[in-house]
Amino acid sequence: MSWDERLDVLLIGGGMISQEVVLPTLFQDRRRGIVGNIAVSSLNSGITKQCRELFPKEEFSGHPDPDKYAADDNQPMMYREAMATLGEHGVVVVATPDHLHTDMTLEAIEAGHDVIVMKPLCLKVDEAHKVIEAAERRKAYVATDYHKRMDRAVRLARYRVRRGDLGEMLHGHAWIEEPKYMPLKQFRLWAHESSPFEYVGVHYVDAWYFITGLRPKRVAAFGQKKFLPSTGSDAYDAVQAVIEWEDGSVLWVQTSWVCSEKNSAMTNQGLQISGTKGEYWADHKFRNLHILTDDDGFEQINPNFFRHYESWERGNDVEYVGYGYESISRWLRDIRQLHIATEGMSKDEAVAHREKQLRDWEAGQRPLPRQALIGVAVNEAVRLSLDNGNAYVVFDGEMKPGLAN
Ligand SMILES: NC(=O)c1ccc[n+]([C@@H]2O[C@H](COP(=O)([O-])OP(=O)(O)OC[C@H]3O[C@@H](n4cnc5c(N)ncnc54)[C@H](O)[C@@H]3O)[C@@H](O)[C@H]2O)c1
Repeated sequence: MSWDERLDVLLIGGGMISQEVVLPTLFQDRRRGIVGNIAVSSLNSGITKQCRELFPKEEFSGHPDPDKYAADDNQPMMYREAMATLGEHGVVVVATPDHLHTDMTLEAIEAGHDVIVMKPLCLKVDEAHKVIEAAERRKAYVATDYHKRMDRAVRLARYRVRRGDLGEMLHGHAWIEEPKYMPLKQFRLWAHESSPFEYVGVHYVDAWYFITGLRPKRVAAFGQKKFLPSTGSDAYDAVQAVIEWEDGSVLWVQTSWVCSEKNSAMTNQGLQISGTKGEYWADHKFRNLHILTDDDGFEQINPNFFRHYESWERGNDVEYVGYGYESISRWLRDIRQLHIATEGMSKDEAVAHREKQLRDWEAGQRPLPRQALIGVAVNEAVRLSLDNGNAYVVFDGEMKPGLAN
């Protein structure tokens, strides 16, 4: 039977980002003819059931199946069964906690699937190299969901910087800060193993690399533990890093996850860049749009991320618009394009086609593994600096961080 040009998707995860962004994106792209069957594999059927309840009109298989497994019966290996039944035109979306990304991604590649991984690709440079090696050997498409690359405010910076309008880079300042409920509630179990830098600061490391194409040379990081220890957690409240790039320019990244829960938006965020010929300045939180209501008070709205609007396509339906949607949908469309182009080719022709296309894409804008490596390397360097009294950390040719002499 000929292929209907739809990709079958296995989502491994089912948590916050899956419920808020990934699943609605997959359902919308199914309506748009990009996606076919959807399977969701979660740690337990309680989570799969939550997804069902959130999207009662959407069809997908749950692993573990809520009809057969108790809600709290953890099945951490069941994603393998779901992966084994994913067909020839399958995509695996990895949306599990960061430390699980590497093995799941490698298994998906070895099973012959293309992959989309939530940021960061993985936690260590050594692991990122394993993904690079496997993806290049199997000619697999492996995109990391660095969604800021799809934010028009960031794309504009890339376009103007690469045209030379700002001249040579001098310095930049990025800030990204989340509310207290993230380490206190959402990530209580693993907040002390991560930090606001590793969790969200990495977005702006990737953004600077995306905008400028520069590679990092040296990093020093600083952190504070004041509020969270008072709640019994050993996690950092805030982490800042100064990153020197190969041309001598410097980016200061300021992160926190103990902002007030009464903030007017979930995340404070923005970026300033100074060059020899000009500057870029963008508040990525406040896009000059607010809503004030009796129920929810004053809210500053970012209409660009992942917003629900009335659909132009289907009456009485919701359309998801923004860089949260685009960044997953773009990678799905790339994968579909690869599958369509190679359908009917001999194995050798398909391999050659994939190899060339992936190389071209990786040389461009896409966060394929050699590009995603940069965020992983800076994350690892920040952790090394924090663990060594804010020491400078440098990188070797493979981007492996080490303490500076
Ligand atoms: N791009 C972004 O803006 C963005 C935003 C938030 C989170 N993230 C990233 O997305 C990933 C998931 O984050 P989240 O906020 O959804 O986390 P979460 O803790 O809410 O959800 C993680 C899910 O992983 C599932 N899981 C854990 N072990 C599993 C296993 N062995 N098999 C199957 N499922 C398993 C659990 O069911 C859980 O629901 C993280 O890597 C995070 O850094 C990205």
